[in-house]
Amino acid sequence: MCGIVGYIGHREAYPIVIKGLQRLEYRGYDSAGIALYDGNNIKLSKTKGKVSDLKERLENEIATDGTLGIGHTRWATHGVPNDVNSHPHYSNSGDLVIIHNGIIENYDSLKKELIKRGYTFKSDTDTEVLVNLIEDVKKNENIKLGKAVQVALNQVIGAYAIAVFDKNKPNEIVVAKLGSPLAIGIGEDEFFIASDASPFIEFTKNAIYLEDEEMAIIRRNKDIKVRKIKGDAIVDPYIQELQLNLEQIEKGGYDHFMLKEIHEQPDAIFDTFRGRLLSNEAMVKLAGVEDNMKKFLAADRIIVVACGTSWHAGLVSEYIFEDLARIPVEVEYASEFRYRNPVITEKDVVIAISQSGETADTLAAIKLAKSKGAFVFGVCNVVGSSIARETDAGAYTHAGPEIGVASTKAFTTQITVLTLMALRLARAKGTISSSEFRHHLIELETIPSKVEKALKSDAYVQTVADIYKDATNFLYLGRGFNFPVALEGALKLKEISYIHAEGYPAAEMKHGPIALIDEQMPVVVIATKKGHYEKVVSNIQEIKSRKGKIIGIVTEGDKSVKELADHVIEVPETIECLTPLLTTIPLQLLSYHIAVMLDKNVDQPRNLAKSVTVE
Ligand code: F6R
Repeated sequence: MCGIVGYIGHREAYPIVIKGLQRLEYRGYDSAGIALYDGNNIKLSKTKGKVSDLKERLENEIATDGTLGIGHTRWATHGVPNDVNSHPHYSNSGDLVIIHNGIIENYDSLKKELIKRGYTFKSDTDTEVLVNLIEDVKKNENIKLGKAVQVALNQVIGAYAIAVFDKNKPNEIVVAKLGSPLAIGIGEDEFFIASDASPFIEFTKNAIYLEDEEMAIIRRNKDIKVRKIKGDAIVDPYIQELQLNLEQIEKGGYDHFMLKEIHEQPDAIFDTFRGRLLSNEAMVKLAGVEDNMKKFLAADRIIVVACGTSWHAGLVSEYIFEDLARIPVEVEYASEFRYRNPVITEKDVVIAISQSGETADTLAAIKLAKSKGAFVFGVCNVVGSSIARETDAGAYTHAGPEIGVASTKAFTTQITVLTLMALRLARAKGTISSSEFRHHLIELETIPSKVEKALKSDAYVQTVADIYKDATNFLYLGRGFNFPVALEGALKLKEISYIHAEGYPAAEMKHGPIALIDEQMPVVVIATKKGHYEKVVSNIQEIKSRKGKIIGIVTEGDKSVKELADHVIEVPETIECLTPLLTTIPLQLLSYHIAVMLDKNVDQPRNLAKSVTVE
């Protein structure tokens, strides 16, 4: 959580840093701040609230010159969101200024030591402790900023991506990383620093992604020196050419990123299977699976670890892997798995799913599984992310940047990759016939155009949203492959509209939740033709007899549910295991429209952040 941005070069830093913060606001948005340095004076401003509040304040309050600048957008961990706890933070002397994404776990003991040595603190943050620790080391040992940062970080337990500068060194920024992402953009005589590459994409395509336990000293008009934080090793950094373009990180005419991303799903799914699904040759090609086929085939079981929406994609994959490849699957919340001493052996394959590739709990679960000898395979969206690097092998989703905090295209592309994996393994194990295999490939190829068709329900979904937007509770029901979709539909509604919603397996309803049903309760039921259709129709009847309001997600041309439901939203027909890729579309649209009608901040829902880099 938290986004950091920095600039040092020949341009005014302010416009670059403020725009960069707006692009990184998905990472946290409860306060924001900026420090600009013109070589003589530091102008520091910070405020509770959004980057737009900071911008307003800066444009009215102070001149914004300086060709060195750092900025921060915060998701609070230590200390409530307020002006004082916002970053940047000064050291006691006022010489050092820092921004930080992460958590210093031993900040309390470090703070006590610093207090004993006469340091005082204005904020409740761990970051102010860190900047004073650096100052203390620098003064005591009479060393340069870079060395002081290194010595201080060797005393720190926790996670960080930091940028710090010294008033007495106007041509230098020092950055360091452990557990939180940090990219350095390399321009012509100018350098950019950011939590991801989006703040500098229009200036340069060349970037260094620091590895964990690396730091860099960045000097204006000069070079970058990268070194290890532990020991004295100098690192020869790998300069990557970025694939990102500006269009991908802008709204492109949509009111919200979430709506844009919902509509991008046909392309995102296509991009995810392009070059991997070869229906003419009746083949699935996934290098990460191919190279490790022996491990997959020898696996006693697959354990999926993930959080939130990615966990829901994992649940869908449980049905798919078991059905197609006949491999037992367990799906675990990474946060539970990591702390419950799970039984893991060398014969387990662990699949870690994560859009951001930075989720702290998922990362910790991976490390635990690896330490027990399991083979860990990653399904990530963000290229080069911590999880992508930590796993033994993997397959990227090609969803493109997902900026709306509520995950949409990440979910459907994760299911796409997992389906490809299941199909490949099923073929290798002989648990699927060649004609069935080919049929699945051909069907998967039609999914982008079917998603396109499902998106056409948008206007009708808006009508339904308008009818139910004031409901205080929603129930979502589904069975089989669509039970996780019910969970995901409920999560989407909760997180962006703040309406309480629960997802349930349809048949479980009569074991408890049915007591909730009355004429006020909208019940969204996924009742597509394949699978347990008749059973779900019976469940719908049970809701109807208790006067619940039924919104059915049905296969095109359905008649039975139409007779019972208050509303039906149609999706195209497909084979059962692929239905989640279609049924999820109207649920995303429903939550989106309800949130918009309730005037909620769709892209930045309260209390949330896009990448959860704290446990
Ligand atoms: C929900 C949502 C979260 C994430 C979860 C895991 O819309 O976005 O529940 O799915 O925080 O994040 P990743 O996939 O980045 O590991």
